[in-house]
Amino acid sequence: MTASNDATAHLVHPTSGDREWWRSAVIYQIYPRSWADSDGDGIGDLPGITARLPYLKALGVDAVWLSPFYTSPQADAGYDVADYRDIDPLFGTLADADELIRAAHANDLRVVVDLVPNHTSDEHAWFRAALTAAPGSPERDRYIFRDGRGADGGEPPNDWQSVFGGDAWTRITEADGTPGQWYLHLFDRKQPDLNWENPVVRSEFEDILRFWLDRGVDGFRVDVAHGLVKAPGLPDWTGPMNMIDLTEADTRPPMWDQDGVHDIYRDWRKILDSYPGERAMCAEAWVEPPERLARYVRDDEFQQAFNFDFLVTPWRADDLRAAIAQSYRANDAVGAPTTWVLSNHDVVRHATRLALPVGEPRPNGIFATDPQPDAELGLRRARAATTLMLALPGGAYVYYGEELGLPEHTTLPDEVRQDPTYQRTEHKEAGRDGCRIPMPWEKDSASYGFGPGEHTWLPQPESYGALAVDQQDDVPGSTLELYRTLLQTRRDLRLGEGSTTQLDLGPDIVGYDIAAADATVRVILNLGEADYELPSDATVLVSSAPEIAGVLPTDAAVWLQV
Ligand code: GLC
Repeated sequence: MTASNDATAHLVHPTSGDREWWRSAVIYQIYPRSWADSDGDGIGDLPGITARLPYLKALGVDAVWLSPFYTSPQADAGYDVADYRDIDPLFGTLADADELIRAAHANDLRVVVDLVPNHTSDEHAWFRAALTAAPGSPERDRYIFRDGRGADGGEPPNDWQSVFGGDAWTRITEADGTPGQWYLHLFDRKQPDLNWENPVVRSEFEDILRFWLDRGVDGFRVDVAHGLVKAPGLPDWTGPMNMIDLTEADTRPPMWDQDGVHDIYRDWRKILDSYPGERAMCAEAWVEPPERLARYVRDDEFQQAFNFDFLVTPWRADDLRAAIAQSYRANDAVGAPTTWVLSNHDVVRHATRLALPVGEPRPNGIFATDPQPDAELGLRRARAATTLMLALPGGAYVYYGEELGLPEHTTLPDEVRQDPTYQRTEHKEAGRDGCRIPMPWEKDSASYGFGPGEHTWLPQPESYGALAVDQQDDVPGSTLELYRTLLQTRRDLRLGEGSTTQLDLGPDIVGYDIAAADATVRVILNLGEADYELPSDATVLVSSAPEIAGVLPTDAAVWLQV
């Protein structure tokens, strides 16, 4: 049973043979406010994370990525930073951050922190200074201020919309009380965009990078990496604000993926490379097609870029095969690893998303009044999708709680919603709160063991009790044990560094042979309605379906020893 005996097999990705950690690492995303609360205020914090690090070591991941913990008014859950060199009191202190980094390293876990360079908070000292300074001043020039259009400057400078809904411009009142200039915010009004044409902005962020590298972090996840540079003249744009929604006929939007961003990352890469120990950065760049995304991971820029194309691929064999092949092709062309991801704090959790009607547009959150996705179907597909993903060579990201099979909270009361998109879209989009619910650790404790108090910043659904860590720990067939086995096997066999051969096993079957240093593993995913018969001599290493007897059921995936 070898790929070379299979006339229709073809190589889609040769191994690079390179062992740099980020090429094959599995990185666990912690959303700090939702993972572990040490002080009982209902919001997770850094000491809570530090205390739970042994759980991650036992899970078998290589690193943690922490979403922002910096000083922030929390208008966008910390993606609105008021001080990049300090910790928000909600989460702890700089000493807590140092202790977290130290303890992670002692547990053989690397630490990646979130860097938010596209915009600051409107409560950042720079923006406050810009508001009181005059138009045309150096303080204003650190942001994107413009005069309005129309006779009295009462119209926004262009027609750009915010990603979160509504206008992307807000008019200020000048220090003398008169209606003034407008500033650009691609996201919330409390997130003014920085002016990356200004060298002062560039040197400030180089200094922030050094601040965190000096404290020992292993890398950065860079927020909105495709947005920093805007097209000259800020031309009007009537297309969608989300690049992933563009059709091929659309031209490239003037606020995303401008060629000038790459110079910034080349400068940053030099800084990272000047530190010992393979420091790495990962681009959050919602850029299409994969060939454009691959430009971010050329060998003097980012080491990784999230493969959102894979995340949005419909649950169909042809689409999955095409997305995987195209990603490898584009990344191999620049010598970069592919970086797989299925869930994060911005999308409906894949245990729910995969139960939504296949091929329809992805919703931004789900309302209690929406048709409720089938939880069992979603979990079955999520387990299969992860079983496929973790076999594939490259890096991978795991979002907190997906290892428990956590679904999206789809029945949140509207009055508790906090995501600014809910307000800014005039309640048309539910937003991202449903994927950010506090983690359940123990079924029978207050807040399911999230913290010592009853209260949590978003309510947990009842279904989280049965999914708590203590309900799945050591339970054969549980989603937690599935993840542990996948991660352990992936690590033991060094699958992340392997080469990938696509197999032709039938129209509804996705199959690859992963040839790694010491073994070859065959991953098979069944998307057809009928059972798929496994080879009679197959040794099953791990299966997403609890029991398989010679056949792989629909929506299940398996790793076989070859
Ligand atoms: C990124 C973050 C998202 C945030 C936005 C603005 O997309 O992942 O959570 O709202 O940037 O910073």
